Amino acid sequence: MAKMWQGRFRKELDSKVNDFNSSISFDSRMYENDIQGSIVHVNMLGKQGIIDSEESKVIAKELSAIYDDIASGKIEFDQNAEDIHMFIEQILTERLGDLGKKLHTARSRNDQVAVDLRMYLRAQIDEIIGLVKKLIATLVKKAEENLQTVMPGYTHLQRAQPITFAHHLMAYVEMFKRDMIRLFNCFDLMNECPLGCGALATTTYPIDREYTAEYLGFKGPMLNSLDGVSDRDYCMELANAIAICMTHLSRLSEEVVLWCSWEFRFVELDDAYSTGSSIMPQKKNPDICELIRGKTGRTIGNLTTLLSMMKGLPLAYNKDMQEDKEAIFDSIDTVKLCLSTLAPMLDTMKVNKENMSNAGKKGFINATDCADYLVKKGLPFRDAYKITGTLVALCIDKGETLDTLSIEEYKKLSDKFEEDVYEAIALETCVKGRSAVGGPSPMAVAAHIEEIKNTVLKEENDEN
Ligand code: ARG
Repeated sequence: MAKMWQGRFRKELDSKVNDFNSSISFDSRMYENDIQGSIVHVNMLGKQGIIDSEESKVIAKELSAIYDDIASGKIEFDQNAEDIHMFIEQILTERLGDLGKKLHTARSRNDQVAVDLRMYLRAQIDEIIGLVKKLIATLVKKAEENLQTVMPGYTHLQRAQPITFAHHLMAYVEMFKRDMIRLFNCFDLMNECPLGCGALATTTYPIDREYTAEYLGFKGPMLNSLDGVSDRDYCMELANAIAICMTHLSRLSEEVVLWCSWEFRFVELDDAYSTGSSIMPQKKNPDICELIRGKTGRTIGNLTTLLSMMKGLPLAYNKDMQEDKEAIFDSIDTVKLCLSTLAPMLDTMKVNKENMSNAGKKGFINATDCADYLVKKGLPFRDAYKITGTLVALCIDKGETLDTLSIEEYKKLSDKFEEDVYEAIALETCVKGRSAVGGPSPMAVAAHIEEIKNTVLKEENDEN
């Protein structure tokens, strides 16, 4: 394909340099946005009398036809083309002759690529938000089934205090809720239109930037043309939102890996969502979780790529910025894949309630409640803490737990202990008592679930 910019040059571009320079292998995915942007641009040129209005209609119609032909597979991308923008303009010119050459009036690829990418990313953000919402719905469903499922809560991966599985899952719901908000914010900030910024300094033609911004669904035109063509904040921000979301997915995945190990046996993955070993017949591996954990690394890498790619660039456009696409596209593909795989895996995962509550029984996770019992009977917390510590040591020596230790042994350490201590330190009591907002008591978690259903999941419930 002959280069559109060939007039200035006396030699053909070296074929290796052509390959090195070309971005069509990865920017072709923006063809729909590119065509949409061009149609609105050419309509504006016609409306403003910059080109003949009948001619602008012919160009717009042909651009739609090109869209149909690409979508149906009738046209294939030419891998020798420099980028998607040049490719589409070339096809247009092949079909319309000289008329096709008018499309690029009052425009540069610098504002074109910026507008295409913003439109593409807006649509992708919508999709990612939809997937995060589905994951939240799955977690909420599991939480509702496990409001009463007592398990140990951990700090330092040591059994700490009793919580419920619902409470644990709802912690992730909060993280994913913030991820959604981050994505919404990112959408909002990128929703300004760079079209009309030209190469860097707008143009002398009487363009209508409000018109193009409006018809492409933006809040309005970007207010500085240098910024319009050289800003990639929106890529960095989206890569950041995705990296944080992936970090949440990774932490959850790590927990599932632990929970389905034989040391924990808190959950069992459905056969459809786990894999076997080629040599060890007994194995059922949580590969999905491990892959999500692993893939998180590349999204952090993509964010680093974008930040370091931008940090030394003078205004305005520099070709370095072509590197934005592979990084942000990879983050998008990765998070979408992970979200859509994890949700059904969690949905089909079996929860072993008995093992969770058994783990709760053995770890002295009601020790805080035992100390609180003494405090309620009038002892200062530090004394109560010390007595309970001595009781725990005694239990360990005797192979007992706080629930099985006799009342005589309790009384030897403090005459405040009565028979009602057993009820006070029962795990269900401990959980129920933590009824403050945000706490693990079934009532508090149920209220949280209601809140999420009425806000984050609202439309989804309405649709059902
Ligand atoms: N493929 C280029 C990119 O992705 C399009 C913009 C080219 N602009 C230029 N002045 N060479 O950045």
